[in-house]
Amino acid sequence: MLSIDEIKKYLKENLKEKRYNHTLGVAETAKKLAILNCISEEKAEIAALAHDVAKNLSEEKMKSIIRENNISLSSVEKNNIDLWHSIIAPIEAKNKLGIQDEEILDAIRWHTTGKEDMSTLTKIIYIADMIEPNRDFEGVEKIREITFENLDRGVYTGLTHTIQFLLTKNLLVDENTIKCRNYLLLNDK
Ligand SMILES: [Fe+2]
Ligand SMILES: [Fe+2]
Repeated sequence: MLSIDEIKKYLKENLKEKRYNHTLGVAETAKKLAILNCISEEKAEIAALAHDVAKNLSEEKMKSIIRENNISLSSVEKNNIDLWHSIIAPIEAKNKLGIQDEEILDAIRWHTTGKEDMSTLTKIIYIADMIEPNRDFEGVEKIREITFENLDRGVYTGLTHTIQFLLTKNLLVDENTIKCRNYLLLNDK
């Protein structure tokens, strides 16, 4: 695996400046949440740095990676290009950054939609992506506050916010996002 400095160098060269700064913000937030939730700060930093590794690839490039790796997409995934960079993130993280840790690869795979029964690391990357310091949407401050009090409640609030937003825009909601929220609700978070 590349060192953290080498990962940063790769990202600086392969992401747009705004995306790179977002990535550093996610890493900063993920490290704080890792300490608060008693998981490895280093794993959280690596996962955060790697989560958008595929974000600035062209549509054609993403399509060919999906094809070459025989990844079958759901109808929602097929119709939502914003999901593709997370679907191929584990492949890019393995090939370009040398990351093998399955827990990290799982966290970056699900950072956009969430999924049922997430690990603590996957939850942290999902919500750190939404609340990192550069994020500025109505309601973000409240989600930040809740997340730093209670990770599960923060993730739940983030999912609810996202689903509400998608509904008002008449956009597709991925089934994993619904399952993720239902799971937290059923498990009393
Ligand atoms: Fe992303
Ligand atoms: Fe991101």
